Amino acid sequence: MDMKHIRIEIEADGIAVLTLDNADESMNLVSPAFIEEFSAAVEKIATDDAIKGAIVTSGKPAFMAGADLKFLGAAFDKGMTIKDALAFRQAPSDMHRRMETCGKPFVAAINGLALGGGCELVLACHHRVIVDDPKATLGLPEVNVGLLPGSGGTQRLPRMIGVERALSMLTTGEIVSPAEALARGIVDQVVSREALLDAARAWLRGNPDPVRAWDKKGYAPPESFGLLDTKMATMFTMAGPGVSAKTWHNYPAPIAIVATVFEGVQLPFDSALKIEGKHFARLLADPVSRNIIRTTFLNKGKADRLASRPEGFDKTTFRKVGILGAGMMGAGIAFVSAAAGIDVVLIDSSLEFAEKGKAYSAGVLKREIERKRRSQEAADTILSRIHPSVDYADLADVDLVIEAVFEDTAVKADVTKRAAAVIPKTTPFASNTSTLPISGLAEAFERPDDFIGLHFFSPVDRMQLVEVIVGKKTSDATLAKALDFVGQIRKTPIVVRDSRGFYTSRVFQTFIHEGMALLQEGVKPAIIENAAKQAGMPVGPLAVTDEVTIELPMKIVRQAQAEMGTAYTPPVSLEVMRRMLDEFKRPGRKGGAGFYEYAADGKKHLWKGLSDAFPIAKEQPALDEVKKRMLYIQALETARCLEEGVLLNPVDGDLGSVLGWSFPTYTGGTLSLIDTVGLKAFVAECESLAQRHGERFAPSSWLREKAAESDSFYN
Ligand code: NAI
Repeated sequence: MDMKHIRIEIEADGIAVLTLDNADESMNLVSPAFIEEFSAAVEKIATDDAIKGAIVTSGKPAFMAGADLKFLGAAFDKGMTIKDALAFRQAPSDMHRRMETCGKPFVAAINGLALGGGCELVLACHHRVIVDDPKATLGLPEVNVGLLPGSGGTQRLPRMIGVERALSMLTTGEIVSPAEALARGIVDQVVSREALLDAARAWLRGNPDPVRAWDKKGYAPPESFGLLDTKMATMFTMAGPGVSAKTWHNYPAPIAIVATVFEGVQLPFDSALKIEGKHFARLLADPVSRNIIRTTFLNKGKADRLASRPEGFDKTTFRKVGILGAGMMGAGIAFVSAAAGIDVVLIDSSLEFAEKGKAYSAGVLKREIERKRRSQEAADTILSRIHPSVDYADLADVDLVIEAVFEDTAVKADVTKRAAAVIPKTTPFASNTSTLPISGLAEAFERPDDFIGLHFFSPVDRMQLVEVIVGKKTSDATLAKALDFVGQIRKTPIVVRDSRGFYTSRVFQTFIHEGMALLQEGVKPAIIENAAKQAGMPVGPLAVTDEVTIELPMKIVRQAQAEMGTAYTPPVSLEVMRRMLDEFKRPGRKGGAGFYEYAADGKKHLWKGLSDAFPIAKEQPALDEVKKRMLYIQALETARCLEEGVLLNPVDGDLGSVLGWSFPTYTGGTLSLIDTVGLKAFVAECESLAQRHGERFAPSSWLREKAAESDSFYN
């Protein structure tokens, strides 16, 4: 067989060395082709009398990551049935089992990280030696993509380290260092890199027993008594509700993991593997795993590789950028730019403010040093790249300007003109505005085709998304440069057209307005907040409105009214906002009071006066109805963005919602949510919501036609 994934060498004393080294990728991944080759290698070792045992190691810096998700993506596109899913996991599971029971000893010489399927391969070996390098981490993070380890991981790990520890690792996806892996009994030896292969050889030369504990007669782990053992009964009884309380049943994987381990440890190993297979297949055929994998891995990966970049323009590498405004956003953008090796001129109206902006980076770096994420030397280099200034002449040789001054058209126009007077005539200019139309701001710039929106999210160092806004006159060349910059600072871009609120702010507004509309109707505030969290939103709509202050959505509404007049339909929550601001003087957290009360010790609780201000209705809606309203209103607005061409494709809609405002990942994003419900069913539900709650839920004729044609945005 022509091997592209593994090299096999047979050493003089009958030790076979299998080196995983995928010829086509920088990482070893579990794919059908790999499984075929590795299975053939196991067969050779099992049947060749001259071979005494085998070492499994890797020719790459990492040992092996998990499944090749690209392959999974293609399988999802075809539609994954339970039968497909069962077939999908059978081959790797059988391969591991054959290796484990073939009568020859296998030792894993783990030279780098082994995660997911890579970790399962390691667990199926008879002995594990790992390199003493903190980067060589081990773990089974399948739960993070809506799955469970499907090649024996859920059964070997508990038998090796005990059910309690295994459950904790499997349900959280925890990743451990070599030292921690040794302490928990996941590996047998930690050695230096130089000694790795010799340690593996030495173990093989000691005539090790090639039969695992669970394949010996009379084997029974202490947990095999299941509920008959009081300690086990208590632990399993608590484990299920424990994970449900964190996931509100939106994510089926953690519960399935608890069930798989519970059922599996009470059975002989081969029956346990069948149990694992059934649970795995159910998860793989569930839309949740597809949604998470498609959006947060596959489509995010494509966006990171700048899939939306127009073709035909040379790649730009940025050496120096100018940032106008050293406030919260400017300071954050300065940090991520400097961290990516770019020099930054950080301008504010006073040197004190500019210095304060630089001090933000010093603070972030200090925390990173404390957490051992960066060395002092690396931090010093990053900090030395940021040059606070009040002098626009310092911008004379910048490759890009990013403006992040106050959200005020006149202030922005002023700094834009001052920068334009000194920067090179080819340097693009970006605004980080969150609400002002890009095409309007571009009028202050003499080269509007070189003007673009780069909308960052706060806090910039932690938020992955950048919303790139193409104005009426923005050229493709400028878009290409802007995307190159986003790529260079290692953020994920989506590309949208100019529109009120662009894409992310526009859709997110619908969530907070719906929350306030529910309040106006007399729904109990606690129901509103809890329903949002149970639907998977990280924070309830009233709490998040308090955070941004009620003044912000109010300002956006007033602006739209001023510009559009009667053509603009204000949100149903207008009256709530007006009364909170004018009547009760409760603008939000910054003002010390909002929908919540804020105690001096930082604690908060819903304002007791809310039920007098907005009387509670006698009849309360079902929780599901409230959840649905808050998610569907966002999905509908996203569909409108697609209809209007603000979004150019469904991928950016999904990515922007998950990365931009933490729309729950189990949905795959606002448009994948519609796909999961089914376009036709979604339209029908919205029509019914419109009848009960108002026109804002009415699907457009475009959406209705789309539903008539197809049941999905992605086909
Ligand atoms: P900020 O108030 O923290 O910072 C603005 C900075 O600009 C201040 O340091 C101020 O001294 C400086 N500045 C004002 N006028 C200036 C002038 N004429 N010349 C030089 N510097 C001047 O505001 P923040 O939050 O950083 O927002 C900045 C921009 O980013 C705004 O357009 C805002 O809408 C946008 N934005 C804000 C987000 C947020 O979460 N705060 C998110 C995304 C965008």
